[in-house]
Amino acid sequence: MVMNSNEIRNMFLSFFKRKNHVFIKESSLISKSSDLLFTNSGMNQFKDLFLLENNKLNFTRVVNSQKCIRVGGKHDDLNNIGYTLRHNTLFEMLGNFSFGDYFKEESINFSWELLTNKNWFNLDKNKIFITVYYSDEESENIWKKIGISKNKIIKIKDINKNNKYISNNFWQMSNIGPCGPCTEIFYDLGDNFKGKFTNKSNIGDRYIEIWNLVFIQFNKDINGNLIKLNMNSVDTGMGLERVSSIIQNVNSNYKIDIFINLVEIVKNKLNLLYNKKNIKYIKIIADHVRTSIFILYNKIIPSNEKHGYVLRKIIRRACCCINMLGINYPILYTIINNFIEYMKLFYYDFFLSNYEIGNIEKIILNEEEKFINLINYGLLILKKNIDNNIIIKNNKKLLDGNFVFKLYDTYGLPIDIIINFCKKYNINIDKLIFNELMSIQKINNF
Ligand code: SER
Repeated sequence: MVMNSNEIRNMFLSFFKRKNHVFIKESSLISKSSDLLFTNSGMNQFKDLFLLENNKLNFTRVVNSQKCIRVGGKHDDLNNIGYTLRHNTLFEMLGNFSFGDYFKEESINFSWELLTNKNWFNLDKNKIFITVYYSDEESENIWKKIGISKNKIIKIKDINKNNKYISNNFWQMSNIGPCGPCTEIFYDLGDNFKGKFTNKSNIGDRYIEIWNLVFIQFNKDINGNLIKLNMNSVDTGMGLERVSSIIQNVNSNYKIDIFINLVEIVKNKLNLLYNKKNIKYIKIIADHVRTSIFILYNKIIPSNEKHGYVLRKIIRRACCCINMLGINYPILYTIINNFIEYMKLFYYDFFLSNYEIGNIEKIILNEEEKFINLINYGLLILKKNIDNNIIIKNNKKLLDGNFVFKLYDTYGLPIDIIINFCKKYNINIDKLIFNELMSIQKINNF
């Protein structure tokens, strides 16, 4: 019998409880740190414990399961959603932690045992690949001792030679706080999937990162200095949805039990075929509506700042997909009830909190109406001014990038909708200028 995601979560927790870890309930999705809007990893609630000394702690081994949102801030996956099989705006992170207790050797051995022992996850050992921080020979040697061959271990350098400790294998929650080198565990989905295992960015879906083991040794201060901590600690995070996709043998987060019915609800309510053209939009809608429900249950409402802004951004991205599917009326609010009923199967405790589903539907409907008005107005401006903003480059008609940026930035018209509109008139958009203006804006907002 294949395990469902609730059983997989329970197995993770039981494994570490047997290794003398104390279970600590997850923290709220709304972050308490001033430098973070939403909880982005399991270690957030423990970040101060890493800075203490272990004789001041009531426990030194902890296990938990934490809902995380990675939209905005240092870790932002929003634009990956719909384009990969492995990203979600909200996911559950399974983690074990050591505060000055065990370190690299035990941590790596725990992960190997849980993943590959036939009494636990029983994954195929041959499909496991590893990355380590380039100077972390200790971790590399532990993996070799376990039996991972040299060609399956990649050393990841700093992104830039002049900036030590800025690397995909050096983890930090935000710009300050506890941090350290990490070793990441990947699973090879096989040659039906595109992707290479290299020391460059991991592009493609073939090698999927399932677990990150961080060896916390430093505290980064506001000036970017790394201060060595008194004790060595461990912070690990495994994506429940990703490991479920492997254990359930479906190889996509959107096909695991947590998501499969949400995808069906979207498809059926919107009366869509699950074909190549629609699939991306269906995935984005399923992901974004699910995340919006979790945020709304935390009593956040859409607005133009902070958490409310992120929520609005997520809802609008879903609305944009609806528009791209050719639907010009509010419809997302009609799927909320079915979503919540299904989500309760995996997050029973979370949905015990008393919140009127009708309220959530009203808020979503309101956002959809606002979005439709915004689109209509933006398109009006576009139609009125299109002729004056055409430039010819290499005999091709292009819409001036400055104007495109204005439509996006001032009138809130999503870029996909602008491209879609222009396509009908055989006009491309001047992406070079547009992207340049976007990068300038990003730098200014940083
Ligand atoms: N904090 C690390 C991460 O989020 C490991 O839990 O990847």
